[in-house]
Amino acid sequence: MALNINTKYPSIDDLRNKAKKKIPKFAFEYLDGGCNEDVNLHRNTSELREVQLKPNYLRNHGGSSLKTKLFGIEYDAPFGISPIGLQGLMWPNSPEILAKAAFKHNIPFILSTVTTTSIERAAELTEGKAWFQLYHPTEDRLRDDIIKRAEAAECPVLVILCDVPSFGFRPRDIRNGLAMPPKMNLSNVLQALGRPHWSIETLKHGIPSFANLLPYMPKNLDLKQLGKFMDQTFSGRLNEEKIKPIRDMWKGKIVLKGVASHYDAEQAIRLGLDGIIVSNHGGRQLDAGESSIKPLTSIAEKYGDQIEVMMDSGIRSGPDVARALASGAKFTFMGRSFMYGVAALGNKGGDHTISLLKTELQQVMEQICCERVEDFPNHLIK
Ligand SMILES: Cc1cc2nc3c(=O)[nH]c(=O)nc-3n(C[C@H](O)[C@H](O)[C@H](O)COP(=O)(O)O)c2cc1C
Repeated sequence: MALNINTKYPSIDDLRNKAKKKIPKFAFEYLDGGCNEDVNLHRNTSELREVQLKPNYLRNHGGSSLKTKLFGIEYDAPFGISPIGLQGLMWPNSPEILAKAAFKHNIPFILSTVTTTSIERAAELTEGKAWFQLYHPTEDRLRDDIIKRAEAAECPVLVILCDVPSFGFRPRDIRNGLAMPPKMNLSNVLQALGRPHWSIETLKHGIPSFANLLPYMPKNLDLKQLGKFMDQTFSGRLNEEKIKPIRDMWKGKIVLKGVASHYDAEQAIRLGLDGIIVSNHGGRQLDAGESSIKPLTSIAEKYGDQIEVMMDSGIRSGPDVARALASGAKFTFMGRSFMYGVAALGNKGGDHTISLLKTELQQVMEQICCERVEDFPNHLIK
């Protein structure tokens, strides 16, 4: 008899536990880990959960709707899927699974430059609705070519990233051979053999590759050469000089992801960008930094009428989405939550995770008597 996944995995934590059992340790740890001692990874969720909401039980309730307008587009829920690199390592075709689910549920899906599906394929699966996150190329020619491809694919929003000026220090990835340059060791092979479903699916779909970069990469690189290629091709540190030509070229919306300070929010406004995602990369870059919820309220209060303020990092449930919206985010994103879903449930993971989060968020709205997403801040207990 077919199992009903809705009753077996009614929380993101259930999906995380299942994912841990289903995929090799090196892939799970790459997804699950933060950086250094994982302090900010945990702080993201624990400090977000200190936010409390006020219900108004006796107020008239005309129904609650999750629909939200962002950049002139109406989405069916106030959350989307954050960009994740190397997704095919966690589960084959996971960017495609998530792009399809996002399209079905009418929520934004952001494709990473360094994931395992191309801009063109994501556009095909979402009828041109997928957003694209650009890792900044060292060479202008490559930058222009990638931007032209995103434009030709009718991508509505380009996301640029400011929180990777250096590669995060991640002890698990170093131990597992997933730091740059990557290394395959006997332990990884044994871990893969211990997860036969993952191994068979991976063999069926082929070793994942950096699909967006294939046109620019020399063929048959070994892992060491691949590390060198990635190092030479991207320069993580973003600045005004790098943002200006992108603003000039890109006619659609531009969002700066990784904002954690008033200074960077002000620069984004000054440079004519359209949105910011207050984010600390899911605690993967600066372990000594603040949780993402901490600077959100003051950034949203000060700049929310000049630029769209969104948030990610640490969100693991519908109530968490509600907490972020009540704290001033216009829209939210999640990275790991969706990837746990796909690693746990394969093709059904995207659909299940989105449905679960929608159901949870709808319940919160009805419980506190919040009819529209933009009314959440009225329920914040200060
Ligand atoms: C395994 C992994 C890979 C990531 N790769 C990228 C990436 O390629 N580009 C990017 O902008 N952010 C990347 N991020 C950060 C996410 O986009 C997002 O900011 C983060 O996952 C949000 O935190 P959460 O996982 O707690 O929801 C990655 C995060 C994880 C966990």
